[in-house]
Amino acid sequence: MRYITFALSKGRLTELSIKLLEGAGIDCTELKGKSRKLILTDEKNKIRFFLAKPGDVPVYVEYGAADIGIVGKDTLLEEGRDLYEVLDLGFAKCKMCVAGPKELQGKMDSISINRVATKYPEIARRYFRHKRRESVEIIKLNGSIELAPLVGLSEVIVDLVETGRTLKENGLEILDTISDISARMVVNRVSMKMENQRITNIIDSIRKQL
Ligand code: PRP
Repeated sequence: MRYITFALSKGRLTELSIKLLEGAGIDCTELKGKSRKLILTDEKNKIRFFLAKPGDVPVYVEYGAADIGIVGKDTLLEEGRDLYEVLDLGFAKCKMCVAGPKELQGKMDSISINRVATKYPEIARRYFRHKRRESVEIIKLNGSIELAPLVGLSEVIVDLVETGRTLKENGLEILDTISDISARMVVNRVSMKMENQRITNIIDSIRKQL
C-alpha cells in the first residue's frame, strides 16, 4: 500500500490541522515532535505529512506531490490552482476585505482609487477588474498591510480581517467584503480517482468532527 501524503500549512493553521487529523484517528506523534525531519509518518495508517508555507501547499497538491492539503481559502483564491476543494474545515475564519480610512466609507462608488496595497495581488486584481471595473495599481506587500494607507502608499488595502482590531486601532474601516475565508481541505484530482476509497474514508472521518 502506498502512502497518502498530506501537505499542511505552516503557521496559524498547523495546530488546528493536527488536532483534526488526530480526531480522525491519524497518529500525529511524529508530526508533533520537534524533529527537523521534513517528512513525518504514521506508519500504521500509511500516511505521511509535511509542513510547507501556506502558498506552497496548493502547488504540492496540484502536482500530486501531496494527495491532500490543508490550507486557507485566501491562499486558494490567490493561487487559483486546479484542485478539488472537498471540505470547509470551519476554523481560522476571517474575511477578505477592502479597507481604508473612515472618510472613504460609503464613498467607494464616487471616488477613484489609484493604488491598492495587499499581500493578495491576484484577489485584489480580480476584485477591481471584475467587480468594480476599475484599473488600479496593485502594490504587493508582505505584511503589516494596514500601514499602507496610513503613510500614503495606497488609498485602500485588500487584506484579511479577523477580529477587526488592527483596522480599528489604526483608524481604518471595512469598505467592502470580498469573501468569507476559512481553512479548507483540498485533494489532488488524480489521487481522488486512484485512491478514492482511502481518501473518502479520511474525508468522512474528518467531516464527522466538524
Ligand atoms: C493578519 C491580517 C491583518 C490582521 C487581522 O495579519 O493581515 O493584518 O491579521 O487580524 P485582526 O482583524 O484580528 O486584527 P498577520 O497577523 O498575519 O500579520 P501580517 O500583518 O504580518 O500579515
